[in-house]
Amino acid sequence: MPKRRKRDFLIRGFSKLLKEDKVKIVSELMDNQVEAMELLKSFWHSDNSKQKIFDEFSENTISNYYIPYGVAPNVVVNGRTYHVPVVIEESSVVAAASSSSKFWSERGGFKAKVVDVEKIGQVHFLWSGTKSKLEEVFDELKYYLRGATKETTKNMEARGGGIIDFKLEDFTDEIENYYQLKVTFNTADSMGANFINSCLEEFATALQDFFKTHDIFKDDAMECEIVMSILSNYTPNCLVKAWVECDFARLDGIYKDMTGEQFARKFQTAVKIAETDVYRATTHNKGVFNGIDAVAIATGNDFRAIEAAGHAYATRDGKYRSLTSVTISDDRFYYELEIPIALGTVGGLTSLHPLAKHSLELLGNPSANELMMIVASVGLANNFAAIRSLVTKGIQIGHMKMHLYNILNHIEATKDEKDKAVEHFVTNKVSYGAVQKFIDNLRNS
Ligand code: MEV
Repeated sequence: MPKRRKRDFLIRGFSKLLKEDKVKIVSELMDNQVEAMELLKSFWHSDNSKQKIFDEFSENTISNYYIPYGVAPNVVVNGRTYHVPVVIEESSVVAAASSSSKFWSERGGFKAKVVDVEKIGQVHFLWSGTKSKLEEVFDELKYYLRGATKETTKNMEARGGGIIDFKLEDFTDEIENYYQLKVTFNTADSMGANFINSCLEEFATALQDFFKTHDIFKDDAMECEIVMSILSNYTPNCLVKAWVECDFARLDGIYKDMTGEQFARKFQTAVKIAETDVYRATTHNKGVFNGIDAVAIATGNDFRAIEAAGHAYATRDGKYRSLTSVTISDDRFYYELEIPIALGTVGGLTSLHPLAKHSLELLGNPSANELMMIVASVGLANNFAAIRSLVTKGIQIGHMKMHLYNILNHIEATKDEKDKAVEHFVTNKVSYGAVQKFIDNLRNS
């Protein structure tokens, strides 16, 4: 029998306990209970009313998990300058976004365009009746479904959104009796998840009523069985493009004596590799999401939904590929990111999280479309910085410089030791061993 470990048991009724008791129970699982309690509590907000906001975001909150909130300044998009709030723990991401934003601000900035803003929801149902009958009354059904959700859609329509259209999808070849009611929505400036899911659940009930009460189905043996109703996070038509372009000459000297043309062509080859090879594509796109997720989190948006859509989009032709592409023609470098980004600037966390609200104000309270363009530009900025380093000096020099503080903190360097280390490593290669040795020498001298 394996030996039972200290934490290896079920905790019953945890969610019903008071926060203090939850902290106590969790701390009891740690080696030093007192220290654990102190640690958890030390990250509580000193202002109770502010802490309450965080406690209520999610169940079983026992502390707050801090991640740095920073700014990538000077992101020029369509001629407007934004100082973009970013939340990320990876040391080099903000520096990368900032440096490539500066680089492109001197070359016309980022250009961006929202292609479309369509979102999708699905009612998945089983039905064994004759499909042609359903097709015959589909226009009538659409009208019925719109009527059934009139109350729910009223406010959204007043804000310029609402239901766009309904489609019937037949999957009976793959799963017996399986159809889908596929609905497209415009959710204006909100991400719209709650709106879409509410509409879908109402459609589901209305759909069943329609089958039950319409004369055309009276001889059909099977009633419509709803399997589930939920939005889809795959939003290929909630699409944005961001790009930069310049003559080769504007890239001259980007690294040592490399010409602009040499750089552009090597950069293009690197992107082509990410269009060809899934291992490289995954890392390449991860670099895009370094920037995208950081702005999504800072503005209170659902970065998991954005990531899921982006990765699915990267596979749209059956193979996972780079989300960015490079075109070279007439001595010009054109580099683009095309990606679905479903986000909101009203509702949800955007107004509840005090820092998300602050972020949106810092960006000038953009519409959802404007934020899509900013987010895509930061994604492109991060990808540019990564590929620029990879095809020139390599990634580690910059990474390790940014990582220096993490290493110094890890070995508990004092302020004075940190200052000396920062000065020393301007001209010396950073590695964990080298930093440790430098601090040891300081301490022994
Ligand atoms: C690191 O977070 C991201 C990179 O690996 C992206 C890339 O390789 O393109 C640098």
